[in-house]
Amino acid sequence: MTTRDRSGLAELLEPCRPVPPGKPNILKTLLAVQSALGHVPVNAIPQIARVLGVSDAQVAGVLSYYSDLRIRSAGRHLIRVCMGESCVANRSGFVLRAIQDHLRMSVGDNGPEGRFTLEQMFCAGNCAGSPTVMVDEDLHGKVTSSDVSSLLESYT
Ligand code: FES
Repeated sequence: MTTRDRSGLAELLEPCRPVPPGKPNILKTLLAVQSALGHVPVNAIPQIARVLGVSDAQVAGVLSYYSDLRIRSAGRHLIRVCMGESCVANRSGFVLRAIQDHLRMSVGDNGPEGRFTLEQMFCAGNCAGSPTVMVDEDLHGKVTSSDVSSLLESYT
């Protein structure tokens, strides 16, 4: 985390200070940090904990529990392959493998160019159109392994 990030984080956290007798909302704060910085830097945990009046362990616990929170910056496009029950039954595992092979990256990676970040998700609410792949906010349904190349090429 750079000095600029640190001072920006302090400014961002100021409105998150709990107002007595309210309880600090750790998740909401971490989502705000991620929205501003693109991720939640692990070395920011003590600063966030201090501002919220909670322990470092409480902040780290929330950060590790929620899969939507990232500790590393994401690529320009976020690919999320649904591994919910309906999608798995409709071969989303094969779609995930095709994406990994096409981009030569694993789940959780940003890839060599920082173009994509690949993640799994669990039910995008599109079970009737499974298997589902989301790229950024775009929902793609009934995706097959052979669709992967053309689907990803549309995101530069
Ligand atoms: S299980 Fe994939 S959209 Fe519901």
